[in-house]
Amino acid sequence: MPTHFVTGGELDSARLASILDRALALKQAPAGSQALAGRTVALLFEKPSTRTRTSSEAGVFELGGHPMVLRANELQLTRGESMRDTALVFSRHVAAIGLRTGSDEALEELAAHATVPVVNLLSPLHHPCQALADLMTLREAFGSIEGRKLAYVGDGNNVARSLAILGGGAGVEVAVAAPEGFQLEDGLGAQLTSDPAEAVAGADAVYTDVWVSMSDSGDEAAARREALGPYRLDEALLDRAAPHAFALHCLPAHPGEEITEGVLYGGRQRIWDQAENRRHVFKALLELLVAG
Ligand code: CP
Ligand code: NVA
Repeated sequence: MPTHFVTGGELDSARLASILDRALALKQAPAGSQALAGRTVALLFEKPSTRTRTSSEAGVFELGGHPMVLRANELQLTRGESMRDTALVFSRHVAAIGLRTGSDEALEELAAHATVPVVNLLSPLHHPCQALADLMTLREAFGSIEGRKLAYVGDGNNVARSLAILGGGAGVEVAVAAPEGFQLEDGLGAQLTSDPAEAVAGADAVYTDVWVSMSDSGDEAAARREALGPYRLDEALLDRAAPHAFALHCLPAHPGEEITEGVLYGGRQRIWDQAENRRHVFKALLELLVAG
């Protein structure tokens, strides 16, 4: 059993498939599990969140547990207490700890010292809970996802990296189109290109995300918008994918920047289902990590 879920690479293919199956079953029967009855799950946020906060808090509640949501600035962390000591204390009270942070090192420190499972709720490098929901959304659309092609177009960021890692684990072919300087590193298993048309050719779904992430410096925003302008997900790009292809976006979106309003609210997207799926798949993940 994996102890933590920090990069997503902790899950082997069989466990990943079982989480997606379980998430689909929980979507049909949201009250069907009390796996966390009498247990508390800490959900720590150092950064803002709409989807992760709502889906994880509601999800723990639906599993019969108590979601203990804390902003990091409420903790002694802000007065210099170490992540190590925070991990040791939380582990005495809760069944699992979720953390959204601006530091992958902080997350590693938490995972190194916690004696309960640690879940990454987004870090500068990874967003594995999002990728689980994205794979669930593909699974929901296509049944089997092995051999399907997912194109990601835009900034090679945390969301793109998690799609490469978890998509690979699920047998999904992931192609990432990003401009020079914004591309993912080699070795993740994704096909990397600078050409959006090449990435979306034959794709079953086309994904994009914001051009300026929470961990990016605001000073770079203008340069990012200029470099990423040709990578906007619009109807014309979607037309280059497979005829049945739909758009995905982890949200929050900036209509008119990385995605057009027409695609975001149109009939060729599963973006709002994708947002809902965050809750179902988070529950399935917690069941596996906490209840085994
Ligand atoms: N997709 C996602 O993680 O959204 P939030 O930042 O609102 O949690
Ligand atoms: N890449 C975005 C994802 C937000 C859910 C960010 O890190 O801000």
